[in-house]
Amino acid sequence: MTSPERTAALDAALTVLACPVCLAAFARSGTALICSEGHTFDVAKQGYAALATGATVPGDSAPMVRDRVAFLAAGHYRPITDAVADAVPGDARWIADLASGPGTYLAAALETHPEARGVAIDVSAPAARTAAGAHPRAAAATADLRRRVPLATGSIDAALVVFGPRDGMELDRILASSGIAVIVIPEPEHLAELREPFGTLAVGPDKAQRLVDRMRPLREAGRRRVLLRRTLSPADVARVVLMGPNGHHLDHDEVRARAEGIGDLAVTIAVRVLRFAREAG
Ligand SMILES: C[S@@+](CC[C@H](N)C(=O)[O-])C[C@H]1O[C@@H](n2cnc3c(N)ncnc32)[C@H](O)[C@@H]1O
Ligand SMILES: [Zn+2]
Repeated sequence: MTSPERTAALDAALTVLACPVCLAAFARSGTALICSEGHTFDVAKQGYAALATGATVPGDSAPMVRDRVAFLAAGHYRPITDAVADAVPGDARWIADLASGPGTYLAAALETHPEARGVAIDVSAPAARTAAGAHPRAAAATADLRRRVPLATGSIDAALVVFGPRDGMELDRILASSGIAVIVIPEPEHLAELREPFGTLAVGPDKAQRLVDRMRPLREAGRRRVLLRRTLSPADVARVVLMGPNGHHLDHDEVRARAEGIGDLAVTIAVRVLRFAREAG
């Protein structure tokens, strides 16, 4: 049974959620959402809207989402979470967290923006299940963001994309005229200490420039670097390796055993937080 709080959060979000097939508005009918063209989707029992029918990718698995929740709860990325929340305009009413994972960044932004409501969208059902409970003012949905973003045109004041896929055209469409996209990307030295022992993927040196190109027609409105060193326990080393793309193909037990063998490990956390705005007029 969906909690009344989750039902209320999803009902409120029907002002911004839109059909992924035709972008028409939804109405609720029991445990279904029906758009004005008749496309019908389920509301899962955990309270999220299941809009990812026919998705091209499964997204993060339940163990990856659990590792991400535990790693983020340890506070290592707190300066990133704070920088994202700070980048959200003070008067934002609707915040969308795209490729939200468990919705940790949305929850932090809602905490610092008490008048705002939010919606977390991820292709992964385990991620949406967790995100649906991330904050009392947050709703959640599954959807494949490589297709249509299931949000109404001009409805969102701040769209967050933290370590997720993004598309400038769709972000431009969903943002209100004064809306802001807040994008987080890793820098080349981010978690570089994990590459040799765990074979994690390197970040290309021109990632920030490629991002600016891919975000058109949005224009960059500011960027900030977050750089820190943290010493991670073996459990957190294993989590941060397994919660990312490597979690799809590495052997989880082997990663945990190797992390135990290494012991505490000092790592570099280095990301860019970029803000993008719509062109005036
Ligand atoms: C690296 S994780 C980041 C999660 C979250 N933003 C965070 O930083 O905690 C990337 C997320 O993107 C989701 N994802 C990958 N491809 C997607 C797609 N095509 N549509 C929607 N979500 C996608 C994954 O399921 C995963 O939760
Ligand atoms: Zn429709």
